Amino acid sequence: MKIIDIIEKKKNSEELSEEEIKYFIDGYTKNDITDYQAAALVMAICINGMTEKEIVYLTKAMAYSGDVLDFKDIADNTVDKHSTGGIGDKITLILSPIIASLGVSIAKMSGRGLGITGGTIDKLQSIPGYRTDITIEEFKNNVKEHGISLIGQSLNLVPADKKLYALRDSIGCTNSIPLIASSIMSKKIAAGAEHIILDVTCGSGAFMRNKKDAIIISKIMKKIGDNSGKDVMCILTNMNEPVGYSIGNSLEVVEAIKALKGEMADDVKEIILTFGAFILKMAGKGEDLIKNKDKIMEVIQNGKAYEKFKELVVAQNGDVSYIENPEKFEKAPIIIPVLSEETGYVSSLNAELIGKASVLLGAGREKKEDDIDKKVGIVLCKKVGDQLSKGDIIAYVHASNETKANETIQMIKSAYKYSKKPVRKTRVILEIL
Ligand code: URA
Repeated sequence: MKIIDIIEKKKNSEELSEEEIKYFIDGYTKNDITDYQAAALVMAICINGMTEKEIVYLTKAMAYSGDVLDFKDIADNTVDKHSTGGIGDKITLILSPIIASLGVSIAKMSGRGLGITGGTIDKLQSIPGYRTDITIEEFKNNVKEHGISLIGQSLNLVPADKKLYALRDSIGCTNSIPLIASSIMSKKIAAGAEHIILDVTCGSGAFMRNKKDAIIISKIMKKIGDNSGKDVMCILTNMNEPVGYSIGNSLEVVEAIKALKGEMADDVKEIILTFGAFILKMAGKGEDLIKNKDKIMEVIQNGKAYEKFKELVVAQNGDVSYIENPEKFEKAPIIIPVLSEETGYVSSLNAELIGKASVLLGAGREKKEDDIDKKVGIVLCKKVGDQLSKGDIIAYVHASNETKANETIQMIKSAYKYSKKPVRKTRVILEIL
C-alpha cells in the first residue's frame, strides 16, 4: 500500500477502505508518513468529506493508535463530557467538579484550543503547577481516589489525534465534520468512560455554523458510540454569542471559580443545569431532571462542588492558593474598557469576532507551535438583551501591549449590534438528541 495512492483516491472523492485508513493512521502516528503527505490527505478529506463508514473506520483507527482505558474495575458509570468547541466555553471546569461531588466519576481527556475556539487543557494549564500530563496510573488513581481527573493528550492516548489536531489547526482544516467527529469520539473511546455527553455547539463561534450541520454531526457521533458500545447523548447549544463573560485562559478559570461559588451567568447556569441533570440520569443517580437540577444547586450552595474543584487541582499538582485567592492570577499589563457608541439594547454579539479578537490578543494560537498568553483575553460586561446607554462599558480588553489592545477594541465594537427596542436573551439549549 502507498500513501500517495490513498491521497489520490480521496482527491478523486472515492471511498477509502478500512485497511487504507488504518495504514494512514498507523503510518502517521509512527512518523512513517510525513506531515506534508498527511496534510494533503486531510485537506482532501476536508474538501471531499467522508462516508459514515469511513468516519467509523477513521475513529476506530485513531482510538486504537495508543492505549485504550477501561474503568470498569475502578468505578461504575463513569461519565465523560466534551464540547465541539466554542468561545468562552468554560463549562467543563464548572460541570466536572459539580458532577464528581454528586458521586459520579469523571474521567476526561480534553484538548488544546483549536482555531478560534478555546481548549480546556490551555485553561487548566493556567493554574500554576497543574499537570495535564500525568501517567495513566495517576489518571486512573485520581478517578478512583477523588472521583475526578481532567487530563490532556500527553499520555499514550490517541497519539494520532494529537498529531492530526495540531496539523488541522495549522492548515485550515478545523471545520470538517468527519475530522471533528473522529477526533472527539476517538478520545472518548480511548479514555474509557461508559457514558458520553456531547455539547454540540452551533453558531458563528462554532465549527457547526447551523443547526442542520450540528444535527448531522450529532447523529454520526451517536452512531460511532453505538458501534463501540458507548452510551452517547448530544445536546445542541447556541454559540452565536460567547458563553458567560470571560474569554481567555486564566480569565475563564477565574469565572469558573466564581460559578462554583454560585455566581453564574444566566447562559452558563442553563447549560450547567441541563447537562448536569442529564448526566446524573445517565449515571443512574436520578430519573427526575428537576430533582437533579436541585441536587446540583445544593452542591454549589453548600460548597461541595467548589471543594471538589480544589481537590482536583491538588491531586494534579496545581497550586490551590490560586483557586482560594483568584486575584493571585497574573494580570495583563494593559486593561482597557471598551465603550458603547449607542443607546438601546444589545441585539447580537458575534462570537466569531470575539474569538478572533482573543486569538489576536494571544489567548489562542495562530500557528500550532505558538505559545499562549494565559493572562490576556476579553471580559464582556454586556450580553444580548442587556440595556445600555452610549458611553457604558461593554467589555474590558486584557492585552499584553497597546497596539494589540487598540486593534481588538475595534473588533469588539463591531461584534456588538444594537436595537432601540427590548431584545430577548439568547436561548442556549437548542435541541436534545
Ligand atoms: N474538539 C475536539 O476534540 N476535536 C475537534 O476536532 C473539535 C473539537
